[in-house]
Amino acid sequence: MRGLFADRIQDVPRSFIREILKVTTDKSMISFAGGLPNRQYFPLDQLRESTNRVFDRHSTDCLQYSNSEGLLELREYISKRYRSEQGLEIPAERILITNGSQQALDLIAKVTINDGDPVVIEEPGYLGAIQALSLYRPRFLPVKVNDEGMDTRSLNKAIKHNPKIMYTVPNFQNPSGISYSYENRSRIADIITRSDCFLVEDDPYGALRFQGDPIKSFYHLAPAQTILLGSFSKTVVPGFRIGWVAAPEKLCDKLLIAKQAADLHTCNFTQYVLVDFLTNYPIDTHLQTIRTVYGAQCRAMIEAIERDFPDYVSCTRPRGGMFLWGRLPEKMSSLELFDRAVARKVVFVPGEPFYTRKTRSSTFRLNFSCTDEQVIDEGISRLAEAIVSMESAGR
Ligand SMILES: Cc1ncc(COP(=O)(O)O)c(C=O)c1O
Repeated sequence: MRGLFADRIQDVPRSFIREILKVTTDKSMISFAGGLPNRQYFPLDQLRESTNRVFDRHSTDCLQYSNSEGLLELREYISKRYRSEQGLEIPAERILITNGSQQALDLIAKVTINDGDPVVIEEPGYLGAIQALSLYRPRFLPVKVNDEGMDTRSLNKAIKHNPKIMYTVPNFQNPSGISYSYENRSRIADIITRSDCFLVEDDPYGALRFQGDPIKSFYHLAPAQTILLGSFSKTVVPGFRIGWVAAPEKLCDKLLIAKQAADLHTCNFTQYVLVDFLTNYPIDTHLQTIRTVYGAQCRAMIEAIERDFPDYVSCTRPRGGMFLWGRLPEKMSSLELFDRAVARKVVFVPGEPFYTRKTRSSTFRLNFSCTDEQVIDEGISRLAEAIVSMESAGR
């Protein structure tokens, strides 16, 4: 069969998380595995009203083919929001609407990476980025992230290989939940501006901060090289599949060509509905609700961990986003913990798929956005039992 398929697909595995999600269809299973926003807070009624208004106001226009760049009103909204929220001047012409930020990752890789090209990636890193980039067969240069951000000593070494792109999630990183400090961002920007590398700043979680003050985007520090990715998946709804890429001018045209070739354009109808929603309802009130809920759920998870987990298990303390990251002692395998947890009807994502090289890890990711505080309490208690059972089995 090998002859039938392109080399680029041969070694790319299925998404581990999508596979785990199949287990979670069992209603008695508590899942900390998915990266799903909490559906209880989807703005259902408002989106219904917006949908009706779009049909009334735009009739067949909203169902017609449209331009590949995306709806101008939506791009202008994003541009204005960058100005009001972050003081960034990014004109609408430099913003391309994509099918979620996941598509932006694919387009960036398509226009920059040849077989074997070096690419810097966080370790651990976002699984969806590892998968999207892998299809273009780069040579990954993983650089460790710690509580402060990227390890800049390793980055200095990696940059000597002249990477084409460096992929980062500086706010509430997926999977670890950490954020890069301002000092760390400045040091990274210093390194990057001395190279030709594009810095991809993937920021789907920045608006989900429930503690502390926002930290300046890489765009402030290295504007000519920073490619910003954004998404409405975590702030409005993921099912619309609307995200964007704001790129340096020299990249915009190439990305547009790749977008045209990929799918002509992102769904016109949902773009109209989204613009209507964003202009008629106060998004900041909606965001505040989500932040408050996720903040409370994150605190509940950390309190339950501190109460139930043995002391040798450590975890990160996110100030926003949807995930935290746990670490078992080196000799314990998180894959084995996964099996023991499934037997106790609780699931999480073991660390392996977040590394480009490791086949065994003692780390794991827990999602706190999707389960209420009571369920979190119960799930963490089951997980603690699974950990202790491994310890008693001498693993
Ligand atoms: C870091 C990161 N980037 C991109 C995405 C993809 O999001 P979207 O729904 O916008 O495609 C996700 C989704 O979980 C993510 O965590």
